Amino acid sequence: MGTESAEPNQEEPCFYRGRPKHSPEEEARLERQHFWKIINAFRYYRTHFEERLKRCERHFLSLPRRHQQLLSGFLDKLAEIRRCMECNHEVLQAIVHSCTHMFENMEYDEDENMRRAGPSSTFDMDKLKSTIKQFVRDWSETGKGERDSCYAPIIREIQIQFPPEKRDVSEVKVLVPGAGLGRLAWEIASLGYSCQGNEWSFFMLFCSNFVLNRCEKENCLTLYPWIHQFSNNKLSGDQMRAVTFPDVNPQSLPLDSDFSMTAGDFLEVYTDPNTWDCVATCFFIDTAHNVLDYIDTIWNILKPGGVWINLGPLLYHFENMANELSIELSYEEIKGTILKCGFQLEAERESVLSTYTENERSMLKYLYDCVFFVVRKPAALISNSQNCKGGELKAPMT
Ligand SMILES: C[S@@+](CC[C@H](N)C(=O)[O-])C[C@H]1O[C@@H](n2cnc3c(N)ncnc32)[C@H](O)[C@@H]1O
Repeated sequence: MGTESAEPNQEEPCFYRGRPKHSPEEEARLERQHFWKIINAFRYYRTHFEERLKRCERHFLSLPRRHQQLLSGFLDKLAEIRRCMECNHEVLQAIVHSCTHMFENMEYDEDENMRRAGPSSTFDMDKLKSTIKQFVRDWSETGKGERDSCYAPIIREIQIQFPPEKRDVSEVKVLVPGAGLGRLAWEIASLGYSCQGNEWSFFMLFCSNFVLNRCEKENCLTLYPWIHQFSNNKLSGDQMRAVTFPDVNPQSLPLDSDFSMTAGDFLEVYTDPNTWDCVATCFFIDTAHNVLDYIDTIWNILKPGGVWINLGPLLYHFENMANELSIELSYEEIKGTILKCGFQLEAERESVLSTYTENERSMLKYLYDCVFFVVRKPAALISNSQNCKGGELKAPMT
């Protein structure tokens, strides 16, 4: 599976619509710089976490001797966590190794200046740790329950909308924006649909490239996703639980399947109108600065008669970021806008319980009360430039 690099990729928040436009050469340079910054984060993981473990040791050794004696297994536990961290580091290095030539249309040659491995920001280290947990969600047996709660309803709906017994599903084009590590898109492709995942984060893209293109045997690799969680553990061993991946062989798609991933901002990559039969968004729409931009784009790129299937919460990603535009709408407001744009509501469930990269043994858990909806861009459209962007087509008022 090839990955195409599209637009410059920003991991850190950029000013909405305010990011200065550069020359193409400058854009390419910034993108290369960003690429190596994320590679650096993968390389810095061991040093970063080693510092964390050293701090634990220092704090422990500062305790009164009697307390240290009462906790006689504590340093052994840290040694065990360090061993798990080394295994994580090995996997991260394999990912780095696999990704310098991953893009079909962009080479990221190592430039000496960019190569220097220095400290990464806490922001990038946190991103890396959550990306490690994303392997559990998408590519492990442990993540099955989570996938069943949020990918399965979307997949079922695709099969209802485009039944394999009634049509050639290889001609049904499905787009999954914000595809994460690609499992949902992969599952859809494995059912014979033509499916493309789109992702913006290099953290995710490096890891999806690795799992989709380099892993050929079930459960051939091991990660320790929970070692970074020092709080809310009931058993000490819970922190050191191993998770193997991938639970399926990602290379097992039929030879004639049509599956791809694109890299770049969904809003910038997908501008061709009337292209997709289905857009499937899972835990995605709240990543927008302005969710109305996503709605406009989905309307524009869907073929007349096409459907948008969505499942997820509304945890607005930019809500608390300084200098970032963030429009936080209720589901009621989003639904009203979708209908005003001309979509027709076909199905809706307002309470689908789901988790996201959950540590099932943790004493702290988040449960999302998600909305699921299916809306259709009507097949028969009338031209109306008042309500839709750029004179696009709008459905007749009913
Ligand atoms: C909460 S995660 C959900 C990932 C996946 N759909 C899942 O359910 O596991 C949201 C994803 O959307 C990606 N994303 C955010 N903004 C994006 C954009 N403008 N274009 C493409 N992907 C984007 C993020 O990098 C992240 O991987």
